[in-house]
Amino acid sequence: MTIEWQEFYAGRVKRITGSQIRNFFRLTERPEVISFAGGFPGSEFFPREDIARTLAELVREEGRYALQYGPTEGNYELRAYLAGKMRREGSPCELENIIITDGSQQALDLLCRILVDPGDPVLVEEPAYIGAMGAIQSYGGAPAGITMDPDGPLPDVMERTLQQLALQGKNPKLFYTVSNFQNPTGYTTSLARRRAVLELANRYNLLIIEDNPYGELVYEGEVPPTYKSLDRSGRVIYLGSYSKTFIPGIRIGWIAGAAPLLEKVVLAKQTTDLCSSSLGQRLAYALSQKGYVDAHVKRLVGQYRQKRDAMLGAMDQYFPPEIGFSRPKGGFFVWVSFPAHYPPANDLLMLALERKVAFVHGEGFFSNGGGTHTARFSFSQPGLEDIVKGIDRLGELFEQVGQKTLRRAAG
Ligand SMILES: Cc1ncc(COP(=O)(O)O)c(C=O)c1O
Repeated sequence: MTIEWQEFYAGRVKRITGSQIRNFFRLTERPEVISFAGGFPGSEFFPREDIARTLAELVREEGRYALQYGPTEGNYELRAYLAGKMRREGSPCELENIIITDGSQQALDLLCRILVDPGDPVLVEEPAYIGAMGAIQSYGGAPAGITMDPDGPLPDVMERTLQQLALQGKNPKLFYTVSNFQNPTGYTTSLARRRAVLELANRYNLLIIEDNPYGELVYEGEVPPTYKSLDRSGRVIYLGSYSKTFIPGIRIGWIAGAAPLLEKVVLAKQTTDLCSSSLGQRLAYALSQKGYVDAHVKRLVGQYRQKRDAMLGAMDQYFPPEIGFSRPKGGFFVWVSFPAHYPPANDLLMLALERKVAFVHGEGFFSNGGGTHTARFSFSQPGLEDIVKGIDRLGELFEQVGQKTLRRAAG
């Protein structure tokens, strides 16, 4: 008898759809492909020797704890360090306001578990980080996109959306935002927008989840103060991560938020994993506390800046002028807009793969539909030469595609 797996799954499993990006990895991450698809850190930047040495010391000297289970809310010293880091960045924060998670992805999942009921609308940016929309949807929430421009989400669209939802008897509780160097657009929300969004959040009683994994990777200028530091009412839940500033392999992130909320998050985490990796937390603490991670970030900034400049310079040089792209001042992502007479980005990706170059077409980042002529390009992973080579190949492809579509229109 063959097993009909569908008969066994719980109702909520129907809501879990794989990330379009992860599904594409099979095609895009083949070694011969120059991939601008995944938002992975450059693995050449992982400080392997320093990590190996520190881990060996930790196991030898603190192995009794580093190899043991730990408290669900996280290692005390790391939490205290992160509370201090939050305070240095302008956010009042005590030990009780920090818990450690398995990266910020787990934080998103746990927060949705305790805050989102089936049918709840959740405000997100349009376009938004796919992993957050996946978490929202897996608990039955419905992401409602708030249009963005390069200064961030538009407050008037947000207010209109809130009013329209209220007419349907729905009052969203949450707005999810990546305020700095957003995934997927690379946009940073301006200070004025942050203030306007906070004002709306106060008026409509919304919690804000501020996901900030890229905020320290600043290649130009400065980032505005975080929502968390501007918030006077305790409604901002801040997510931090070691994935982009250090390494994702330890899966360590944190939530900084109001103590009563975090108590519930801890209960949800208890049934998920009991605790985050003790070894990972001790490694993060050992290297943070010595100032090593901050020094590493400084090095990363110089290295990623070169990659960003290589990508933007090559796009300037090789992309036909009708193709628009964002000029991020930090982070990993460039957002590309193709003109309407081009084929959808999905088809362009197939043609690009034939030329052994990959990116992510944009549709999956849009909760309200659309985005067919957009794409996300990540410069974090490929080397400098490959970045230029890949963009050059795509420039040639887009040139041909553009001319063909124009000829077709003329004929
Ligand atoms: C905006 C955003 N949030 C969260 C994550 C997940 O990161 P972590 O490794 O901390 O789980 C990512 C990873 O790409 C991201 O881009």
